[in-house]
Amino acid sequence: MLREIAQTLDPVCFVEGNLSIKLDEVQREVLRNTGKRIILNICRQWGKSTIAAFKALHRAVHHAESLILLLSPSLRQSVELFRKVLDASYLIEHLPEKTEDSKLFMTLKNGSRIVSLPGKEGTVRGYSGADMIVIDEAASVPDDLYLAVRPMLAVSDGELMLISTPKGKRGFYYNVWTHGGKTWKRYEVNAKQCPRISATFLAEERESMPERWFMQEYFCKFLDIEDVVFPMEYIEAMRDPDVQPFYTGMVDKNVTKWRG
Ligand SMILES: Nc1ncnc2c1ncn2[C@@H]1O[C@H](COP(=O)(O)OP(=O)(O)O)[C@@H](O)[C@H]1O
Ligand SMILES: [Mg+2]
Repeated sequence: MLREIAQTLDPVCFVEGNLSIKLDEVQREVLRNTGKRIILNICRQWGKSTIAAFKALHRAVHHAESLILLLSPSLRQSVELFRKVLDASYLIEHLPEKTEDSKLFMTLKNGSRIVSLPGKEGTVRGYSGADMIVIDEAASVPDDLYLAVRPMLAVSDGELMLISTPKGKRGFYYNVWTHGGKTWKRYEVNAKQCPRISATFLAEERESMPERWFMQEYFCKFLDIEDVVFPMEYIEAMRDPDVQPFYTGMVDKNVTKWRG
C-alpha cells in the first residue's frame, strides 16, 4: 500500500519500482518536475525519448482521465516512441487494464489515453484539452504544428515538454530555448555529462563527423544556418534506414564503365 502511494506521488519510485533501470540525477529531476513548460536540450542517446515515455505513462496511470499527446517528426519516430511506452507498460505492476491499444495509442480503464502522432499539423486536429503534450525531436518538427498544439493546453492548463538535440538557429525549438523567457525550465546535458556515454565512444564519434556537427549532436550547440554545408534533409536521410543511398547505382554503373 505504502509502495503504491509512493509510486503515485513520485514518478521516480514508479519507474525504478517497476522497471529494472536506475535513473541518473537529471532524469530524476525531469521526471519529478511538475512545471507546465519544460524544454530539454540534450545530446543524442541520453534517454530523452525514454524519459518522455516514462513521464507519459506515470501521468496516465496515476491521473485518471488524462489525455497525453506524444508528437514526433515522422510516423516511424511516433511508432518508435510509443514502443517505449508499450514496453514499459508491460512491466508496470498495477497498470489499469488497457481497454484499447495499438502501435500508436492506448486507453486505460481509468479513462487515460496516450496517443503518439507524427508531427503534421493535420494529425493533431480533433484533439483538445490535452493534459500533457510532449514534442520529441522538436527541432525537426515544423512550426505550424507547434502553433496548432499550444491552444490545446489553454483550458486544461496542461503541461508542455519540448525535447530535442539542436538543429540550427531557427524554428520554435530554438526560439523557445533562447528567447522563451522564465516560464520555461531548461535542462541542458552534453555527452560528457551523460554517465552512459563513454569517452572512447565519444572520441570515435568526433573522428567520424565534422567538428561542428559533433558539437551539435553531443554538445548541445545550435549551428548557424550558414555553417551547414549540406541541406539538413540530406544529413537526416543518412540516419534513416528507409532511405536508399542514392549513389550505389551510380557506383555500379561507373565501375562497369571504367572496367569496360
Ligand atoms: N538510466 C538509464 N539506464 C540505462 N539505460 C538507459 C537509461 N536511460 C536511457 N537508457 C537507454 O539509453 C538508450 C537511448 O535512449 P533514448 O531514449 O532512445 O535516447 P535519446 O532519445 O536521448 O536519443 C536506450 O537504450 C535507453 O534504454
Ligand atoms: Mg529520442
